[in-house]
Amino acid sequence: MNSTQEQLKEKLQQALVAAFGTDYAGTDPLLVTASNPKFGDYQANVALSLAKRLGQQPRAIAQQIVDKLDVSEICKAPEVAGPGFINLKLKTEYLQAQLSAIQADPRLGIGKTKTPKREIVDFSSPNIAKEMHVGHLRSTIIGDCIARILEFRGHDVLRLNHVGDWGTQFGMLIAYLREVYPQALTTANALDIGDLVTFYRQAKARFDADEAFQQAARQEVVRLQAGAEDTLHAWKLLVEQSRREFQVIYDLLDVRLTERGESFYNPLLPKVVEDLEKAGLLVEDQGAKVVFLQGFTNKQGQPLPLIVQKSDGGYNYATTDLAAIRYRIQQDRAQRIIYVTDAGQANHFAAVFQVARRAGWVGDDVELVHVPFGLVLGEDGKKFKTRTGETVRLRDLLDEAIARARTDLEMRLQAEGRQETEQFKAHVAKVVGISAVKYADLSQNRTSDYVFSYDKMLSLKGNTAPYMLYAYVRTQGISREGNIDYEQLGADAKILLQEDTELTLAKHLLQLEQVIADIEQDLMPHRLCEYLYQLSDKFNQFYENCPVLKSEEPVRTSRLVLCHLTAKTLKLGLSLLGIEVLERM
Ligand code: ARG
Repeated sequence: MNSTQEQLKEKLQQALVAAFGTDYAGTDPLLVTASNPKFGDYQANVALSLAKRLGQQPRAIAQQIVDKLDVSEICKAPEVAGPGFINLKLKTEYLQAQLSAIQADPRLGIGKTKTPKREIVDFSSPNIAKEMHVGHLRSTIIGDCIARILEFRGHDVLRLNHVGDWGTQFGMLIAYLREVYPQALTTANALDIGDLVTFYRQAKARFDADEAFQQAARQEVVRLQAGAEDTLHAWKLLVEQSRREFQVIYDLLDVRLTERGESFYNPLLPKVVEDLEKAGLLVEDQGAKVVFLQGFTNKQGQPLPLIVQKSDGGYNYATTDLAAIRYRIQQDRAQRIIYVTDAGQANHFAAVFQVARRAGWVGDDVELVHVPFGLVLGEDGKKFKTRTGETVRLRDLLDEAIARARTDLEMRLQAEGRQETEQFKAHVAKVVGISAVKYADLSQNRTSDYVFSYDKMLSLKGNTAPYMLYAYVRTQGISREGNIDYEQLGADAKILLQEDTELTLAKHLLQLEQVIADIEQDLMPHRLCEYLYQLSDKFNQFYENCPVLKSEEPVRTSRLVLCHLTAKTLKLGLSLLGIEVLERM
């Protein structure tokens, strides 16, 4: 099915050609949802934009379009208004028919894309032995949501975890490991070296203080590159321990990822440099091999270099990303590669994308997209830290959200005099706590910074996960109270839209398809949160104004179908955000 908006767009385009000829084929009718429902549901602004080209008054143009416009199946008679807007109001019968059509469909009428693509979402990507911090949490939550939406639309999605598991920092770590746990380099079994972040700090302190140790660390880097057995063994040990720690977080968040860390591309790096050389892009600059970037200049106006091989022969983060692009396009056949990282890496990606294009690796059908996001701030407006000024461990952060959700729940149960099992309480607290963290992140325009506040994100009021979960619980409460199995309502149940609040809810229910199509393009998950928030709001208004269980047939069944459709839409929408619903809370 095509969304209503798509259908209207097509009809408007046909009318434009009928009125002004084929020169006007493909003209964007500038169709938007109307800002004021008094004037209609949609408004086309194309007449205003054509005034100059046609040398006519916009109102006259609008009238000529309307004369050729055939939307009688969808809309009431179109009206020309103001300086030349075309106002369109949906017919009630059309809305009723649309709702009936999607009622029995698990996808709620939302079609799969006609042009499925191989899409890579590069997200989460923490660094081994370093703290997985709130920045990685944002990347994990946003990347997962984008992947879910693309998968739902029928794209072939590869979720890649570009883990920082290679580089000179391992020299220092392994040299330290050799000192404090020499057996780790030889024994076959995995060894628990305790807290990796503390270990990293100790190794770093040792490195900074002792020159002989620095020498040993550099030696380990060389041994690692050469594939020396004991060094490689130590490296694997460190990576495995990190992986176990990351997995705890992914399990809690219900996020799936395929790990393909930086080390994977290591053998491919010399080939990258060779390719760049062949393409004539490589320049020697103070012993390093660099590509001078177009459009990136320093303060003196000179072009900036992207270093691909350092003077000591080593490679860096950018070289690995170049190898990754090349591999993902040539081997994985990616048509769009989406990188979800903090906005601070915008220049890095712009530079890497440019070099990859100039090297000729990126075909015309391939899109490279950086999806940047802002910082997570504490309630003091500064970078999110613990009270003692350290980075917050993600595990602690999630546990705290769950614990607070549990406290809120216990208080509510006590106030309502309800008894619930331990299993119920643990489950509700976990779902509410995790959802609250995810939703707080996703509901913000990702490009801005946001303030992390447990109180706000766990509130039952406002644009929060608990509010959304509660709206769903309400729909389920209605079916329990009336002893109704929504699934048994049947596809033949008639929908009657009479009250304003019913019409408003119906129109909103039909807009999810467009919202998803938009996110598929602009990768802005907050649009879906906004949509769901409004849905909950419109449902609540409907529920306050329209008795459901107490009304007479056939209105009763029609309203129950609206409740069911709202429930299904909330459940589907939340699942795309990575949020699971609760039957009771
Ligand atoms: N490991 C990097 C970091 O923690 C993020 C990697 C993002 N992905 C990439 N292909 N560069 O900042």
